[in-house]
Amino acid sequence: VARSGGSGPLRGRRVTISAGGTREALDPVRFLGNRSSGKQGMALAEAALAQGAHVTLVLAHADVAPPPGCDVVRVESALQLRDAVLEALPATDVLVMAAAVADFRPAEVVATKIKKRDDGSDPVITLVRNPDVLREAVLAREGRSEPLVIAGFAAETGDATADPLTHARAKLARKGCDFLVLNVVGSDLVFGEDSNTVTILGADGTESAPVRGSKRAVADAVIGHAARLLAP
Ligand code: CTP
Ligand code: CA
Repeated sequence: VARSGGSGPLRGRRVTISAGGTREALDPVRFLGNRSSGKQGMALAEAALAQGAHVTLVLAHADVAPPPGCDVVRVESALQLRDAVLEALPATDVLVMAAAVADFRPAEVVATKIKKRDDGSDPVITLVRNPDVLREAVLAREGRSEPLVIAGFAAETGDATADPLTHARAKLARKGCDFLVLNVVGSDLVFGEDSNTVTILGADGTESAPVRGSKRAVADAVIGHAARLLAP
């Protein structure tokens, strides 16, 4: 049973956080996965609990255990994560999509273990697009009377076409959520690390000062930002 901590700005509010990395089955024993540790999602859950919220954690594969006191819905694939997030949405005041959702899944899941072939030919894996869960949540919000704050995360690098901020602004506009937590990825990997530097980009064009520190410090800033949008 989940509890709302007695006080705090999110007392009585329901926060849904997706966390971890999805796994897309290839056959009964293999999957396509990613390196998400789940640590940022767990820190978000802790931060929301500390602010008094009732927390539902939609949890894909993670290296760390969820904090006590939240409702945990375990999922494996992006499709399962989508179903769990959309099911929680009507009773959600704040949705934070921290999960690393696979963009693609194998077009077919083979029912039996894929074996090496006698003729020496190698298997070819065809991938198909997964749904954009964040985008679907934004669309599901349309017409709803109670407020719902929706946030996404994005790790961006610069490339020949644009800098990370430009990519992130375009992504925020595409998703239609209220804010995007931008991690500018340089040569140092963020996955599995214990600290972070992020900028919060608002749909209203605002950009926060850089938030630097532990994943918990980032989580406090993100949950605080969502709480202010929910109740200005
Ligand atoms: N996300 C999602 N569903 C997907 C992919 C991503 O809900 N199928 C969410 C992530 O949880 C994150 C945000 O969208 O909060 C941004 O993820 P990102 O991978 O940066 O966005 P994509 O739209 O997949 O763009 P890209 O092609 O750059 O990977
Ligand atoms: Ca992606």
